[in-house]
Amino acid sequence: MSLRRAIFPGSFDPLTNGHLDIIRRSLPLFDEIIIAVLNNPEKNPMFSVEERCEMLREILSEVEAGKCCLTVDSFSGLTADFAKKKRAAAIVRGIRAISDYEYELRMALMNRRLEPEIETVFLMAAEEYSYVSSNLMKQIFTLGGRVEGLIPALVEAKMREKLKK
Ligand code: PNS
Repeated sequence: MSLRRAIFPGSFDPLTNGHLDIIRRSLPLFDEIIIAVLNNPEKNPMFSVEERCEMLREILSEVEAGKCCLTVDSFSGLTADFAKKKRAAAIVRGIRAISDYEYELRMALMNRRLEPEIETVFLMAAEEYSYVSSNLMKQIFTLGGRVEGLIPALVEAKMREKLKK
């Protein structure tokens, strides 16, 4: 039987509880999920790709993954190329609200054009995370707002360390 492998690509700068919600929802659907962290230094991320992968590994080690094998990897270049290289059958993306749909649809169709064998699977985030994004979390945190319950405690601690520097 062939392995149902998926990648979940993203910037994860930083990981939010919305991302974690999507990861948890995707676990029963696949045998293996690779959380694929985009190496995007030109976007001036708050965390380096190594820091993001390290945080993800630490946080995901606490997640009860059942029979699914959950791994973290980084990539540069096209998501479709990375998915093909990893022999993934699917690309997982989360949708929070209808406003995400247009952008996600364009990406899904472009990725399908690039790699027709690879399907994009959209999962709906829990309502309580429908307004949570990495960019909003960085902005709120940097301006002294409260973000508990919206990002993992480890991420919040690492953001605090970053701000002190
Ligand atoms: O976390 P994000 O920023 O919503 O993730 C966006 C991501 C990484 C999935 C997207 O920017 C992407 O796939 N980038 C890699 C380059 C690429 O493949 N671009 C064409 C997409 S159709």
